[in-house]
Amino acid sequence: MPSLNGAVVFVTGANGGIGTHFVHEALARGAAKVYATARKPRSWDDERIVPLTLDVTDPASIGAAAAVAADVTVLINNAGASVSSAGILTHTDEEIRTNVETNFLGPLYLARAFAPILSRNDESVIIDIHSLLSWYAVAGIYSATKAALWSATNSLRLELAPEGVHVVGVHVGYVDTPMAAHATDPKTPPADLVRTVFDAVEAGEYEVLADEGSAQVKAGLSAPIEALYPQLKAANA
Ligand SMILES: NC(=O)c1ccc[n+]([C@@H]2O[C@H](COP(=O)([O-])OP(=O)(O)OC[C@H]3O[C@@H](n4cnc5c(N)ncnc54)[C@H](OP(=O)(O)O)[C@@H]3O)[C@@H](O)[C@H]2O)c1
Repeated sequence: MPSLNGAVVFVTGANGGIGTHFVHEALARGAAKVYATARKPRSWDDERIVPLTLDVTDPASIGAAAAVAADVTVLINNAGASVSSAGILTHTDEEIRTNVETNFLGPLYLARAFAPILSRNDESVIIDIHSLLSWYAVAGIYSATKAALWSATNSLRLELAPEGVHVVGVHVGYVDTPMAAHATDPKTPPADLVRTVFDAVEAGEYEVLADEGSAQVKAGLSAPIEALYPQLKAANA
């Protein structure tokens, strides 16, 4: 069973609301080292934390990070971009490109760069942070990229299982971080989310439905599409 104890953890978006908790909770569970990666790495008051520059949209940056962090056993694809408006027809080109590159291509390229490194260890893990919105398309390109990442995670899980790499996908609604600052709905505290994710990893689970909303939306996928999107009835009335 995968364990954080003794692990070498690589966190993308480590300066962010959820990423910072991944860094601290990994150490609390016995991780030997955490690469805290960011576009602009900060300093950390702990010698087990190694700040590393990484822009997940830049393949050269990914290659350089993988060359330095050749001892990683747990890759956490946490960095993410969001959009300021929900309409997939009204985003700017820049919003579309940034979301695709950050939320989909970045995690995929990171998984590809780290697969040979992770395969060397018997208990390696990839954790991909999806969203409730992977299954609920009300956030335009953000939803689309999180759906694409969900699918890629499923492919990675199948391809890496024979290599002994355990791949975990995480679905959650609002989390109380800068990304969800605009939202007034209930939010999961990031520390709670991270504990839930690591508990699931250490229990050998493949998928984390971190809140009731994510469980409900996943269940709703088996219903007729009008049940998940009641707004269609109003539009057709
Ligand atoms: N908050 C929510 O409600 C919520 C819900 C479901 C899923 N999520 C997902 O959770 C993950 C973490 O988000 P968060 O809530 O912690 O938001 P956050 O506080 O805004 O953190 C996002 C992090 O991603 C980093 N990032 C963005 N573009 C990057 C790039 N090109 N290269 C490297 N790092 C980059 C940001 O770094 P900079 O500091 O350099 O900008 C920031 O540290 C994301 O994947 C997000 O989609 C969040």
